[in-house]
Amino acid sequence: MDKVIKLERHDMIAVLTVNSPPVNALSAAVRGGILECIKDAIVDPAIKAIVLTCAGRTFIAGADITEFGKPSKPPALNDVLSEIENSPMPIIAAIHGTALGGGLELALACHFRVATKEAKLGLPEVKLGLLPGAGGTQRLPRAVGPELAVKMIVGGDPIPAAEALKNGLIEEIIEGPAAGGEAFARKVLAEKRPLRRLRDDESKIAAAKADRSIFTNAVAAMTKKSRGLEAPFAAADAVGYAIDLPFDEGLKKEREGFLKLLTSDQSKAQRYAFFAERKAHKIAGVPEGTKSRPVERVAILGAGTMGGGIAMSFANAGIPVTLIEPGEEQLKRGMGIMQKNWEATAARGGIPADAPAKRMALINGVVGIENVGNADLVIEAVFETMAVKKGVFGKLDQFAKPGAVLASNTSYLNIDEIAKSTNRPHDVLGMHFFSPANIMKLCEIVRGPRTAPDALITAVATSRQIAKVPVVVGLCDGFVANRMYDQSGKQAGKLLFEGALPQQVDAVLTKFGMPMGPFVMSDLAGNDIGWLSRKDRGIKSEIADALCEAGRFGQKTGKGWYRYEAGSRTPIPDPAVETLIEQTLARLGRKRRAVSDEEILERMMYPIINEGARILEQGIAARPGDIDVVWLYGFGWPIYRGGPMYYADQIGLDGVLTKMRELQVTMGDEFKPAALLETLVAEGRKFADFSQPA
Ligand code: 3HC
Ligand code: NAI
Repeated sequence: MDKVIKLERHDMIAVLTVNSPPVNALSAAVRGGILECIKDAIVDPAIKAIVLTCAGRTFIAGADITEFGKPSKPPALNDVLSEIENSPMPIIAAIHGTALGGGLELALACHFRVATKEAKLGLPEVKLGLLPGAGGTQRLPRAVGPELAVKMIVGGDPIPAAEALKNGLIEEIIEGPAAGGEAFARKVLAEKRPLRRLRDDESKIAAAKADRSIFTNAVAAMTKKSRGLEAPFAAADAVGYAIDLPFDEGLKKEREGFLKLLTSDQSKAQRYAFFAERKAHKIAGVPEGTKSRPVERVAILGAGTMGGGIAMSFANAGIPVTLIEPGEEQLKRGMGIMQKNWEATAARGGIPADAPAKRMALINGVVGIENVGNADLVIEAVFETMAVKKGVFGKLDQFAKPGAVLASNTSYLNIDEIAKSTNRPHDVLGMHFFSPANIMKLCEIVRGPRTAPDALITAVATSRQIAKVPVVVGLCDGFVANRMYDQSGKQAGKLLFEGALPQQVDAVLTKFGMPMGPFVMSDLAGNDIGWLSRKDRGIKSEIADALCEAGRFGQKTGKGWYRYEAGSRTPIPDPAVETLIEQTLARLGRKRRAVSDEEILERMMYPIINEGARILEQGIAARPGDIDVVWLYGFGWPIYRGGPMYYADQIGLDGVLTKMRELQVTMGDEFKPAALLETLVAEGRKFADFSQPA
């Protein structure tokens, strides 16, 4: 018997427990062990039913992703599943934690499924650029009907046990997996329940067979946001086979689709991103055994754009917040915006109707910094000037309780300089959230030279608790995200001086897969913000300045780089902007030239990659993957392109270097290649081969 599987005989019930930490993934050993134990139990005359359950924190969380791309080892998962489904005695999957991917597919091959209250069940393969490859697309529609199956398979999000029960995916909610599974098995035997083989049950797909629009409408709704991705469409096709084809044929077509995606560039990039996100949890320089400080109560300073969004993220996770402003009026305004935001989400059905009131009740809005006293973590989100930040942190030193972690949400400022205004610089760090902070998942955790390791991991753990993706970064102007983004922002502006139009630049980037281009983004944020800051610093940017002088501040004034119909957020290219650009260029004595889409992409992307190389060189980011995670979750970089550093490896670093050198000759030193880029190319290596010196 394989040691990852334990088979116990409790008189007529065989309890088969998978024990393969951390997540009981279906490695070859697990597949083989399950098959062998099932076969043993079936031939044992004393055994009348089998319970399949897992030890540790979760039921089987899927195929073992680390085996993908390697030669496959027997037994194939589908063979294990047909042995289960064909068993003459009932097999019951007793689920706790998460039954995901191949794990749920295995449960679907069982004759009955039961789960604990907190369990979640899902087929998240699309998130790895795949489709379920072990019958999930054929059995799930037969279990829950095609509409929910499409939602789960094409969307990839798991459903809670209560929803699974309501929709017939599980039979019962149980207390504990092993005992609950066994009790349910005894009930099945006592009631002589017939075995339910989903393969043979077409009752739930009959309606969609008669009226295919039930299926196509569900697919249309779920693929609305799948621009550029291959897997959701292929997964939807596979669910269609369940409706159109006999089970075995559907299974065969599903397998073909799965194998095709497995070798696709998109899936490779998405699997890379999965592991990059997990590697980002590993933080250098934190002594083993360092414990996170307990965080039960949080205070946030500033109820503006960011403070409000951050407070919402905490309340969404059920964590109470004290939200602090210097005056009643700003506080009222901030509280009102949060309430309206939640109410709008509730009206769309995104959260329950009573959620806005419940979440508002977790936010205690108060005036005066002296109210930070009971907070374990204080996050400052006040105006972005060093003087204001230092003033605030000086007061925090006076009012925050000893041991509280003191975080700044600054976008650019030096955390260590801010820390100097306190007597506890070891408690100070950056927690840089992205706008809108209640939606965007990235949190750059900025580590100063004096930040204590336990303060650092407290910030990391807390951001994970509120469903953010933390990436630890070092100290520099703009940290990783803004420092890199500004490189492309600079080029976007310059491209207009060459002859490109905002809509051309934006179109190149959205075609690449970014959610929006820099000019649409600037119209959204307000073009006046950059204009005021330039004026403040005595800097000119003639075209952008002329735009603002013409009152084109963006969406809020109905016109900016684009024009907007009343009440609409859809950007419409405006000939007036082209005229404005031409007039400005004529005034400066510059001639427009045709700029190709290829040039735009190179000039927007290569400086980002180059800056990423410098960031690695300087140790500001620990790994290329950390930079990629920053872009995936901070700026909506298309996951099927992995991230800028992964993308650079795919297009080839030598090509990037050659182009940077060419641009350096024509455009100057802003295109000077990073030393690391030069070194990697000279040594025939990639970013993927890079690791920080020990
Ligand atoms: N295969 C291999 N390793 C896996 C894995 C998997 N399916 N799922 C998680 N791991 C590893 C992680 O890499 C991590 O390793 P590390 O400790 O060395 O970094 C460890 O398990 C713990 O993972 P998390 O840090 O993510 O732990 P959480 O508790 O936060 O989350 C989870 C647990 C919800 C199970 C999450 O890991 C997850 O979503 N896993 C992926 C699930 C998935 O996509 N399943 C489908 C796989 S494809 C498939 O099944 C194909 C089939 O249709 C044929
Ligand atoms: P904002 O102007 O919307 O809000 C700032 C709030 O702080 C105001 O409500 C103000 O009344 C309040 N405030 C000022 N002094 C205070 C004090 N002493 N105590 C308590 N509250 C005080 O600004 P926004 O955009 O929310 O930015 C806040 C911080 O977040 C800045 O450091 C900014 O750089 C950073 N940031 C901003 C992002 C954005 O997209 N807006 C993104 C990421 C970070």
